[in-house]
Amino acid sequence: MLRRLYHDQPESFAFTPANQQWAEAQITKYPEGRQASAVIPLLWRAQEQEGWVTRPIIETVANMLGMAQIRVLEVASFYFMFQLQPVGSVAHIQVCGTLSCMICGAEDLIAVCKEKIAAKPHQLSEDGCFSWEEVECLGACSNAPMAQIGKDYYEDLTAEGLGKIIDELAAGRVPVPGPQNGRYAAEPLSGLTSLVEHDSGKTQYNASAQLAVDLGETVKRIDGTEVPILTPWLDRTDKSAGKAKGTKAAAKSAAKVKAPAKSVAATKPAAKAKASAKPAAQTGAVAEKKPRTMTAPRKAGADNLKLISGVGPKLEQTLNELGFWHFDQIAKWTGDEIAWVDSRLKFKGRIERDDWMAQASILAAGGETEFSKKSKK
Ligand code: FES
Repeated sequence: MLRRLYHDQPESFAFTPANQQWAEAQITKYPEGRQASAVIPLLWRAQEQEGWVTRPIIETVANMLGMAQIRVLEVASFYFMFQLQPVGSVAHIQVCGTLSCMICGAEDLIAVCKEKIAAKPHQLSEDGCFSWEEVECLGACSNAPMAQIGKDYYEDLTAEGLGKIIDELAAGRVPVPGPQNGRYAAEPLSGLTSLVEHDSGKTQYNASAQLAVDLGETVKRIDGTEVPILTPWLDRTDKSAGKAKGTKAAAKSAAKVKAPAKSVAATKPAAKAKASAKPAAQTGAVAEKKPRTMTAPRKAGADNLKLISGVGPKLEQTLNELGFWHFDQIAKWTGDEIAWVDSRLKFKGRIERDDWMAQASILAAGGETEFSKKSKK
């Protein structure tokens, strides 16, 4: 099937505030310059919110991640998990049509979808509540035939069973996912024949079906309000910052990470996308001001910035690329300017931790620090 942008597109897209916060938190998982790695989670969250991946979603995600829009479209059109056209408002049913499911009755399931929903895949039912498609193997082959409905798998299906599930969903109820023939998980229908002492039937349903029942969100769209926005990696950053310093500066650094994410405008032009791709932790909390920079070192040559403790060859190169070649430039940085430079370095907080300004000030005046003395030996 040709996967391309749908002919009828909405005007715009914006994440809900909670989803925006979640999305910006995801971006902070990845190292500087690798924000594009967040493309799948962001597209997924946007699809969860909207129901399908629209052109404005692709533009928004591209702007947030500093990616070309075509690269985001490539991802969205490659993976079948992304819907490129509107789906049923209640549920989109994905019937596996690969080998195991096909020989166990997938064609009968598809016939039910054709009869109850619409004659063609991706066509909305008359009431707009349902849609369906045939998909490739979903990895539950031992429970064939199966279908994914919303976020969960319905396994060991029969045509009659799937018909009832659709009726239940239409009536506003959500049947329990998992095997539909009495099996607990993927064991033989007659019961375990080996490893019987490891029978794991501790809950009413198997782990994933039980979780689906507990969360109750099988066909519910995520709008950011029902699932806590978990960012354990940011907490880790907080702790290590506190441990490293145990000072006012550490608290400042932690506050910087925890501060609420600054919204990225959905309509930001692509040219500005790189700057907007800065994670919230780096952009939202502390005012930044670009220090005065130089396009080249002075005639007498660049200072050896590696004489500053904490600056290695890589960082020196980065500082040069940013327009800093001399100790006196660094010695003059103000708080806002430190924030600007800090957000462009790989190792956040290093400038203050190693007190570059104090070191640079001594070196600029022709003095020596303990570190510079050692380095020159
Ligand atoms: S063949 Fe259907 S889940 Fe694998």
